[in-house]
Amino acid sequence: MRFKKPLDVLLKEASETGAGTLKRTLSSFNLVTMGIGAIIGAGLFSLTGLAAANNAGPAVTISFIIGAIGCAFAGLCYAEFASMIPIAGSAYTYSYATMGEFTAWIIGWDLVLEYALGAATVSISWSQYLTKFLHYFNWEIPPQFTRSPWESATLADGTVIHGIMNLPAVFIIVCLSLLLIRGTRESAFVNNFLVVLKVAVVLVFIAVGWAFINPANHTPYIPANTGKFGEFGWSGVLRGAGVVFFAFIGFDAVSTAAQEAKDPKRGMPIGIIGSLVVCTILYVLFSHVMTGVANYKEFKDSAAPVAVAIAKTPYAWLQQSIIVAILAGYTSVILVFLMGQSRIFYTMAKDGLIPKTFATVHKKFQTPYKSNLLFAVFVSLFAAFVPVRVVGEMVSIGTLFAFVLVCIGVMVMRKSDPTTPRPFRTPWVPFVPIAGIVICVLMMVSLPLDTWIRLAVWMLIGLVVYFTYSKKHSVIRNGILNNGKEPLNPDL
Ligand code: ALA
Repeated sequence: MRFKKPLDVLLKEASETGAGTLKRTLSSFNLVTMGIGAIIGAGLFSLTGLAAANNAGPAVTISFIIGAIGCAFAGLCYAEFASMIPIAGSAYTYSYATMGEFTAWIIGWDLVLEYALGAATVSISWSQYLTKFLHYFNWEIPPQFTRSPWESATLADGTVIHGIMNLPAVFIIVCLSLLLIRGTRESAFVNNFLVVLKVAVVLVFIAVGWAFINPANHTPYIPANTGKFGEFGWSGVLRGAGVVFFAFIGFDAVSTAAQEAKDPKRGMPIGIIGSLVVCTILYVLFSHVMTGVANYKEFKDSAAPVAVAIAKTPYAWLQQSIIVAILAGYTSVILVFLMGQSRIFYTMAKDGLIPKTFATVHKKFQTPYKSNLLFAVFVSLFAAFVPVRVVGEMVSIGTLFAFVLVCIGVMVMRKSDPTTPRPFRTPWVPFVPIAGIVICVLMMVSLPLDTWIRLAVWMLIGLVVYFTYSKKHSVIRNGILNNGKEPLNPDL
């Protein structure tokens, strides 16, 4: 027997207002900036250089286009759902309506990998850039407090220092969680400011760098394959797409705020597709300039490839301001991810799958503050004690898995609820969802085995929680939906 959340109940929840509910404060513009806020970050400012140096050369621009096409297929499916079911919770909610409670649980649990660990990953990169920035002013944070216990650093005198915890990463997580508790509108305001700053830096970089593109650096545009799959040539371009995929993660975060959108039916597709299009254009131009100004080989092992490129121009003095803007950029990614995570948990708690207390909305601020506090602690633990590579790969696999389920969900819903109004319809169904599934599965397969094992372990923990807690407390399952008046909804 499958327990699905009825669509009319979802739509009723979406229209609830007043005390104890989330406020509808976000305009379409806010949603696009929120998307851009979640998208441009470590992927662009760090991974572009690595993908160019190790996989694609200047053709990293083509890698970005391939990554964008994969995300666009999934994005079109997200947009249909988000406009149809404009309620907090994103892919979790959509799968509850389409594929039933068990799948919804799987996806909700999986989304923790995308959002919570995504925030942790970017906070670790944030910490690296902060350390670099403070270094300009001769302020040094002791190295044991800027890395996890699994990492070490060799000092100038040859001493090897082992990490204890990544303190700056925890600092930024806690600050942003407190901001989120303070209010969604306040958070959106700060986010708009940060997004303007980071987009400005991207535009300045493109404008300033364009004049210094050396055509020799772009020749050949696709360096010859070394004989190994993924090292240059077309296979390198494909592997590069897998690497820069991280740069696109986050466009779906827009859908987690559906319940706070003023006009979700219009705003959701605009927010999701709009932010994806804007970012893709910026990424292609940015990476074209970056690999034109400096040779792609110079980005090998560089944590700050943008600084390497800028150093090639007469504007080397821009480096520090660029690092500040990158810090701002990362901050907005973390902010949106933390917000997305708390909204998903808020919805899961309302459904009874996790303790109800996480659905408590703050009386004054109208934000799910307990959920924010829980993730302030959870994300801080990962940011403090786990290396960036490990969390980063878990984010990618978790996100791709979610995309696959959303693509399947669109096809299921077209069959099960064909007449429900869809303010935005995914074009060319089933071609688009199937293409989305194929591309995402291919990218998942390219991830290393240990990442798959971690995904399996995380999912197993999720199953234990589901069978020992969630199943017993599920609102739908226990027939107490809508204050106990609605009957049980066994479907199938
Ligand atoms: N897309 C986000 C970034 O690049 C996760 O940081």
